[in-house]
Amino acid sequence: MRQPILVANWKMNTTRDDAVALARAARETAAATDTEIVLCPPYIWLEAVAGSLDGGPVRLGAQDGHPEPRGAYTGEVSMRQVAALCTHVIVGHSERRRLFGDTDEVVAAKLRAAREAGLTPILVVGEDESSHAAGRAAEVVVRQLESALDGAPSGGLVLAYEPVWAIGSGRPAGPAEAQAMAALLRGALRPLGADADGVRVLYGGSVRAETFGGFMEQADIDGALVGGASLEPAQFAAMAHRAAARA
Ligand code: PGA
Repeated sequence: MRQPILVANWKMNTTRDDAVALARAARETAAATDTEIVLCPPYIWLEAVAGSLDGGPVRLGAQDGHPEPRGAYTGEVSMRQVAALCTHVIVGHSERRRLFGDTDEVVAAKLRAAREAGLTPILVVGEDESSHAAGRAAEVVVRQLESALDGAPSGGLVLAYEPVWAIGSGRPAGPAEAQAMAALLRGALRPLGADADGVRVLYGGSVRAETFGGFMEQADIDGALVGGASLEPAQFAAMAHRAAARA
């Protein structure tokens, strides 16, 4: 049985005080559930959040990382630097792909660098609105998965299916639709030689506590990648408890 996992993507939100308060709340939640929790704050608060987590069960993740280990890349933070504080890193989020030009090749390089640095990548795939409307969602996400793994399937991996049209829109995918995509992705891992049955597959995109239960009832969905609702401690705690109920 795969342990449920909840990943909080705070994006470019939170003050330092917000970040510390959310971390403390997550720590209390983690003590009361079996759900694995990974918090992904902005880089600038990683150290403060690490201090608040104080070696407890909550894991720390970065929202991104540069594939080169060091060098003249103004404004960037390398996977290797991230690994000094984090166990996880988000790779391939649609906001990185869409707003910052992360191509499939860049995503593959980041995934490789994350693993080399000893981080577990949280690989995000998902189709945009027009691909969805054209019935090309499956084709898009499998291509994103295969190109990101680029012949290096083994090693730690968390996979998140996030349809771009569902992110921040208040319009999540239906649980059955998300399940179909999660099953498809798990199936696509098999021929790549990955541990398809062991990989946790998450749903992401406008998940809230009220809708999360429907996703957790699905056979291939092991948790969620949560944006907006992860900034609300009561929402996040409710989801962690619901996820643990499946464990
Ligand atoms: P959302 O974001 O939960 O606010 O839709 C999810 C994400 O982008 O990871």
